[in-house]
Amino acid sequence: MAPREPDHVTIAADKLCFDASGRRILSDITLHSSARRIGVVGRNGSGKSTLARLVAGLLRPSGGSLRVAGHDMFRDRKAALRTVGVMFQNPEHQIIFPTVREEMAFGLRQMGQGKADAAATVLQVLDRFGKSHWIDAVVDQLSHGQKHLLCMMSVLAMRPRLLILDEPFAGLDIPTRLQLRRHLALADVAVLHVTHDPDDLQGYDEVFWLDQGRLRAVGPADTMLSEFAADMRRQGAADDLSRLAG
Ligand SMILES: Nc1ncnc2c1ncn2[C@@H]1O[C@H](COP(=O)(O)OP(=O)(O)OP(=O)(O)O)[C@@H](O)[C@H]1O
Ligand SMILES: [Mg+2]
Repeated sequence: MAPREPDHVTIAADKLCFDASGRRILSDITLHSSARRIGVVGRNGSGKSTLARLVAGLLRPSGGSLRVAGHDMFRDRKAALRTVGVMFQNPEHQIIFPTVREEMAFGLRQMGQGKADAAATVLQVLDRFGKSHWIDAVVDQLSHGQKHLLCMMSVLAMRPRLLILDEPFAGLDIPTRLQLRRHLALADVAVLHVTHDPDDLQGYDEVFWLDQGRLRAVGPADTMLSEFAADMRRQGAADDLSRLAG
């Protein structure tokens, strides 16, 4: 597989809103970013996964607009398939097939690759990750961390321009996390990464900070992460005080 020039994918949201069950989940998100590695942080329930799903085109905006690489991801599924790859927290929700070979070939076939080409791509990707011996592995016999790696390889095999990760490392042990982070760092792809762990975002370019369904701030990763961490500590301390007072 020929190496590609680093790609920048523009995410442009203008007054983006999302409602569910009669409730506003995301309000008035306006941002424009061409950063290559973007982190998304915020407290539980702040709307991070909702934003990730909107960017992936899996949800329809309720108001405003959202364009990724110039395309409306929800309306233009073909463009979405070419542009974004998604990796969620639980690999069990993502893996469909019983063997590594079939699982990895599926997305490629969906994208229009012929059987022989897809098989060759699977071999190349496994080789790149040092996992050629997995070709005939049965998915059920992989560990949880290995299933994560399988998801990452399957998604990257499709060569998306933007990889959307929603807490993909939650519940993994430290060596597995580090290993996946290394693979991710080497991957030639723009990234939008939702996480609660600031360590996942080391070396990232930009961070979106969500707070109660609104965009609280966007900025360079290092400043955003230290402001976010300070705010989380303040909120934790305030919660402790109010508990003591109560
Ligand atoms: N389909 C839905 N119907 C009703 N409420 C929803 C729906 N999807 C999300 N919500 C609500 O919207 C809010 C934001 O959810 P979201 O999953 O985007 O948060 P999050 O930042 O990813 O949280 P976490 O860190 O816990 O994963 C939550 O209060 C959630 O309950
Ligand atoms: Mg979430």
